[in-house]
Amino acid sequence: MSDSKVSHSVALITGASSGIGATYADRLAKRGYDLILVARDVARLDALAERLQQEYRTNVTVLPADLTRAEDLVRVEDFIRANPQITLLINNAGASLKGGFENSDADAIENLITLNVTSVARLSRVALDGLLKHKDGAIINIASVMALMPEARAAVYSATKAFVLTFSQTLQFELEERGLYVQAVLPAATRTEIWERSGKNIDEISGVMEVGELVDAALLGFDRKEKITIPPLQDEQQWIDFEARRSVMVPVFSQSHPAPRYKS
Ligand SMILES: NC(=O)c1ccc[n+]([C@@H]2O[C@H](COP(=O)([O-])OP(=O)(O)OC[C@H]3O[C@@H](n4cnc5c(N)ncnc54)[C@H](OP(=O)(O)O)[C@@H]3O)[C@@H](O)[C@H]2O)c1
Repeated sequence: MSDSKVSHSVALITGASSGIGATYADRLAKRGYDLILVARDVARLDALAERLQQEYRTNVTVLPADLTRAEDLVRVEDFIRANPQITLLINNAGASLKGGFENSDADAIENLITLNVTSVARLSRVALDGLLKHKDGAIINIASVMALMPEARAAVYSATKAFVLTFSQTLQFELEERGLYVQAVLPAATRTEIWERSGKNIDEISGVMEVGELVDAALLGFDRKEKITIPPLQDEQQWIDFEARRSVMVPVFSQSHPAPRYKS
């Protein structure tokens, strides 16, 4: 990527070979962003890059990486360090387990945590130094409504998305004054390959959103500098009320003694 692009908007998108990530790539290329596309499937990334370059005359760099592999993650981190012109990091790559907790082996669980959690934290940290140098530096983290749904019985996936949500909210407190904008996007069921990849049939689920609608709504939230964007949530007040109920507990957590109900 050339130095002449210093004032240009440049986005690095993980998981850009399909679904939500590929759709972000399309929409951002249309907005004039230069792109760095990260995923494992080089052929798909190359095909997408070629289409975007032809259609929108934008610069697209393909950076193949398996984000569950330490050496690949480090390669992406080195790329980010060497390219401080990146203005937007989209932590989108993610997956789900094929079975429930009891049916999943420990290695599969660890791999999922590495992809959905470790890569998000590491790439955000490494990108931060460059992002803070831009007045419009931003991170978009793709979480999920599953972060709020233990009832869905997907322990590891939901917990990884709860990490992404809390991580995003906490970064907002830590870094807003430094000028960094962090958006957490919480999709619900969206028509992408993640369902098939995790052995589920999307046709058995009701209320599935098309991926274009999801990403267009999320980008509207981005333009509005929303901190939390939940495209399927029809009544925004429900989230506002939820947050308000949570935040009233914050000042009362610090106590020298347990609550009376724990005194025998
Ligand atoms: N679709 C939904 O219903 C839904 C709902 C809530 C949240 N989300 C979240 O949305 C994000 C995008 O998922 P999607 O729905 O668009 O599914 P998807 O079509 O399966 O896309 C997942 C992307 O992540 C990449 N990826 C998977 N494993 C990877 C690895 N080890 N290293 C690098 N890249 C990897 C995939 O590319 P390669 O296979 O080429 O590596 C692909 O580009 C995920 O974080 C997911 O949890 C999805």
